[in-house]
Amino acid sequence: MYVCLCNAITDRQIKDTVASGANSLTDLQAQLGVATCCGCCAELATSFLPALGENQVNTAVGAQK
Ligand code: FES
Repeated sequence: MYVCLCNAITDRQIKDTVASGANSLTDLQAQLGVATCCGCCAELATSFLPALGENQVNTAVGAQK
């Protein structure tokens, strides 16, 4: 399933990146480009990360606006 439509990033790509050590939205943004355009996918992309606080999600999304 596509998580990031802007950059055509799938859940599988995100899961693989997390399995390879990504542990923040910043890591996913740097490695995949997810949530680097409109930012609408940031919350969903973050849901694939191990335990992440709400503040980090809001900060990452806010950075896109
Ligand atoms: S849907 Fe991911 S940046 Fe727009």
